[in-house]
Amino acid sequence: MPYNPYNFPHKLCRSMLFQTAAAAGKADYADPVERLEIISQVEEILEFLDEHARHEALVFHLLFQGALPEWVAELEKSHDRLDQTAAKVKGVLAELRASPSEPLAAGARLYGAFNELVGQQLLHLAEEESALLRIWQAIPEPELLKIPAAVQKLVTPEQSQKTLRSMLPVLTPAERAGLFKVFRSAIPEERYRGLVGLAQELLPPPTWEKLRVALGDAA
Ligand SMILES: [Fe+2]
Repeated sequence: MPYNPYNFPHKLCRSMLFQTAAAAGKADYADPVERLEIISQVEEILEFLDEHARHEALVFHLLFQGALPEWVAELEKSHDRLDQTAAKVKGVLAELRASPSEPLAAGARLYGAFNELVGQQLLHLAEEESALLRIWQAIPEPELLKIPAAVQKLVTPEQSQKTLRSMLPVLTPAERAGLFKVFRSAIPEERYRGLVGLAQELLPPPTWEKLRVALGDAA
């Protein structure tokens, strides 16, 4: 199968959407500390989704534009609709931040608005992935393989580190091993060792063991 540039970022989007939807469903909105925690968690995923859409606009869409202009126009409209739904979520977050007199009702509104966004996002991610065959036919694979490096140029080292920490646990063992093989050939030994240490720290022991075995001498 040719390279799928959506795979890793979309796995992270989905994992964050599911985790945050579950957290918004069980938070105690009457407790100011828990209220602030869920507000921060939702704000964090909104920022992540904004950033992901920016990467798609500046890297993916620019690459697809020449061969698939109508498809790119559709995706951009879809991103605009997602922005409108995210704006509704931001409105409820502002309400919750202002210590509402009926926090439970405001919490239920956040749960509803956020889940509307989750539903829309899930459809959008699937819509993007449904075009993979067309993308593979239209764009040479070496061009697709340049996407991750082009995205890296748009982010700070801190953002990159944070994304990696969130992404490592949501991949399959084979994907994680493949990623480390790419790192090994692309970055200095010292940085590579740092990332191996990070994986060992973040992954549950049986998952780390699979990566260690897959990397052999490189672990
Ligand atoms: Fe998108």
